[in-house]
Amino acid sequence: MDELPTLPTGRRVKLLNQNDRLFHVIIAQQFDRELIEHLCRIAEMTRAIHDARAGARFLNTVLSHKRAMLYFIQPSTRTFLSFTSACQILGMPYNDVRDTSTSSEVKGETEDDTIRVLSQYFDVIIVRHPQEGFAENMAHMLNAMPRNIPIVNGGSGKDQHPTQALLDIYTLYRNLLPSPLDCLRHDHDHNPFAGKTIAFVGDLKRGRTVRSLSYLLARYPDVRMLFVAPDELQIGEDISAYLDRHDVNYEYKADLKDVIADCDAVYMTRLQDEHDVAGESKNIDLSRFVLTADMADRFRPKLIIMHPLPRRREIDKRLDADPRAKYFDQVRNGMWIRTALMAYLFNADGTILDHYHSYYSY
Ligand code: NCD
Repeated sequence: MDELPTLPTGRRVKLLNQNDRLFHVIIAQQFDRELIEHLCRIAEMTRAIHDARAGARFLNTVLSHKRAMLYFIQPSTRTFLSFTSACQILGMPYNDVRDTSTSSEVKGETEDDTIRVLSQYFDVIIVRHPQEGFAENMAHMLNAMPRNIPIVNGGSGKDQHPTQALLDIYTLYRNLLPSPLDCLRHDHDHNPFAGKTIAFVGDLKRGRTVRSLSYLLARYPDVRMLFVAPDELQIGEDISAYLDRHDVNYEYKADLKDVIADCDAVYMTRLQDEHDVAGESKNIDLSRFVLTADMADRFRPKLIIMHPLPRRREIDKRLDADPRAKYFDQVRNGMWIRTALMAYLFNADGTILDHYHSYYSY
């Protein structure tokens, strides 16, 4: 299993999908443009359906026959709560393990065995884990078991956070299209990212959300990405090699104020110092990687300001009331896109689509 990360991406994706459909959700490279747009559409329909009491009641039956486990052994607020909210919206009971000191792991049970055991009770396991390849390895392990259930990666060490990338791209769609409802259209020829500049700022080396979102954005021709970070925290060479292979236009930058006027979206991140081995990031000067209130006069009128949260000091709080600040919208979008993803994983996206079309005629 240790050799897994060296497998070519296409092979990894094949092992995680079943019948050409997503089964385990582990890496952002599993999502093509059609699937991203499909999930955005299901998310948009779900939130419209949920607006009416009868609609919310319908959604509450969609996955009431399935059960979810959240195995979250790294701290989490939003990812945890948005997945539990998604489960509640779809009527799916859930349970969680957040503290292994209360599980049999203290008696020496391995994490592999814990996952095998959990797979007997539940129909999906959402995993947040500090170790990069853990979720993927568990997916492969379950593939070899008589009872196989999907593993969903809710954050894998410094590597990836594919469901965060989905909510980020959903947020971008909702703001780049003329109206959020345009997410409902089947217009695969329209590329809302063409000619757009998106800057990623901060700790790009260890920020898994940026890594996953870069893979998704690489699906859209003519997008321009700026990686704005101190040298020590610049995005990994595996990502730049991927972008090179996919002919994506990207540049490295070292000062946010030099590029802010060119940005259609700016994606801020915090220092990921929990990954420090010996406090090595403590003395890095981050002053050039802060979105300050005095930059606002250079913002484009429709700039999209994003942050996966939690925030420290990298966005001035005075910008929170600016209509271009979308980081709290991202939180809510995360709940709806994860609802769409859970429905999709259990083949219930069609049920939501049919319901929508029988009640609304968009
Ligand atoms: C992020 C994470 O855990 O990777 N948070 C989240 O899921 N929204 C970002 C972070 O912790 O900085």
